[in-house]
Amino acid sequence: MKIYKKKIIMIKPDDFHVHLRDGKILKKIANYTGKYYNKVIVMPNLKNPINTIKKALKYKKKIVNSSKKNKFIPLMTFYITENSNIKELEIGFLKKIFFSAKLYFKNSTNLSQYGISNLSKINKILEKMEELKIPLMIHGEIYSKNIDIFSREIFFIKNVLPKIRKNFPNLKIVLEHISTKNSAKYVLNNPPNIAATVTPHHLLYNRNDIFSNGINPHLYCLPILNKRNHQKYLIKTVTSGNKYFFLGSDSAPHLISKKENFCGSPGIFNAPTSLIIYLKIFEKMKKLKNFESFCSINGSKFYNLPLNKEKIIFKKKNWIVKNNIKINKNKKISIFLGKQTLSWKITKKK
Ligand code: DOR
Ligand code: ZN
Repeated sequence: MKIYKKKIIMIKPDDFHVHLRDGKILKKIANYTGKYYNKVIVMPNLKNPINTIKKALKYKKKIVNSSKKNKFIPLMTFYITENSNIKELEIGFLKKIFFSAKLYFKNSTNLSQYGISNLSKINKILEKMEELKIPLMIHGEIYSKNIDIFSREIFFIKNVLPKIRKNFPNLKIVLEHISTKNSAKYVLNNPPNIAATVTPHHLLYNRNDIFSNGINPHLYCLPILNKRNHQKYLIKTVTSGNKYFFLGSDSAPHLISKKENFCGSPGIFNAPTSLIIYLKIFEKMKKLKNFESFCSINGSKFYNLPLNKEKIIFKKKNWIVKNNIKINKNKKISIFLGKQTLSWKITKKK
């Protein structure tokens, strides 16, 4: 990595957690991810969840066809349900169709209705994953009417994760989009089989921002933005360069009509701005020297993937982010930090 006053050159980053959706939305957004990222873990929570080889292959083909301008390597995930076909995952993994599997607890987030209510129902699949070294990606929140929304991740870390780890100590686990100090501390205290991804929005904002000058549905994501002390702890941990923390943007597009709705959807579309936001955070913390590890090294090392050969160049230059992306005549997706000025820009020129 080379850091100059107005220029940075480093290995092209990877995004280890992205929602690309399907259909028209996929076609309109995929190239944004390819512009900034090389290896990309694609989430399986489509309306028809990705839980067979056939579905994964078909989806992967659509992704490749939608990102011809800015190519990237899609890594497919298997959606775990209580009735998962273990053979599909096993064969799919051995044939390199599936890279990992994703665990959602029932009703914890968008399209998690096929997720898990009873952990013991997935013992067999976790056993197989441990044996074959298939990484388990977890949305670590337990949904229940009795658990406060700001404590769902903490409940999972305290009461559920230790059980999984006790039963499957060699299982490789990634806690996705962590939002609390509790999760970060768990990862720090439990090497080497567990790591975490952190999103730009959980680093940039806290729950007060959702309610500043009115309610902002475009800051609604899950896990929900938490208290300022959690945000601060995440910033400190991520920028420290610790190798168990890496980039996963959780870019999650929803139509504006679904966000600004009587019952709005969780998710923030940040693909066009995520990398620059992370950069801004590392710069502010005077930790630029750790930026490349977080974006382009730690994740690949944890997942035993090769580092990217391609480089990326940032130049200090103000630019105004587009406000939204048109899907068709009256459907749009709002871009995270749309209309705002960012002070670094990716360039192809040296
Ligand atoms: O904010 C989120 N959006 N969190 C998730 O876990 C899912 C995602 C989505 O699919 O929109
Ligand atoms: Zn996600």
